[in-house]
Amino acid sequence: MKIWIGCDHAGYERKQEVIALLKERQLEVEDCGCDGERADYPVIAKAVGAAVASHSGDMGILICGTGIGMSIAANKIRGVRAALCADAFSTKYTRLPNVMCMGARTLGSGLALELVEIFLDTPFEGGRHEKRVHMITELEQEW
Ligand code: RB5
Repeated sequence: MKIWIGCDHAGYERKQEVIALLKERQLEVEDCGCDGERADYPVIAKAVGAAVASHSGDMGILICGTGIGMSIAANKIRGVRAALCADAFSTKYTRLPNVMCMGARTLGSGLALELVEIFLDTPFEGGRHEKRVHMITELEQEW
């Protein structure tokens, strides 16, 4: 499993911290930008989202100022289930996402890194959740 990660200018510093954590955990990481320069979050969300959607089992992490723009943009890509993560409980119990989005201006570093660990360590349960993923996929095809 590879982790595709991206940010806009607001999320750059937090992204560096997250990359360090992922490497500490010996995970394979691919950085889709930006490199600190002003960047439009839809461009980065597209790069990470397209990579996750075309590599089954991979996951994505997107960071902008609030995480909202990234999550809206990433969810436009078929196959992406992006969740805006801001607290431990919902990060653990969402279960369906393959992309986590976070706000660098809304979360402190400690909580953000804790949420990344929760996201990585919480397995997708399948079962009734699987059925709902299919229902989401149908929505993508219908609308
Ligand atoms: C960039 O200034 C900011 O709009 C962006 O990082 C994000 O917060 C959008 O959701």
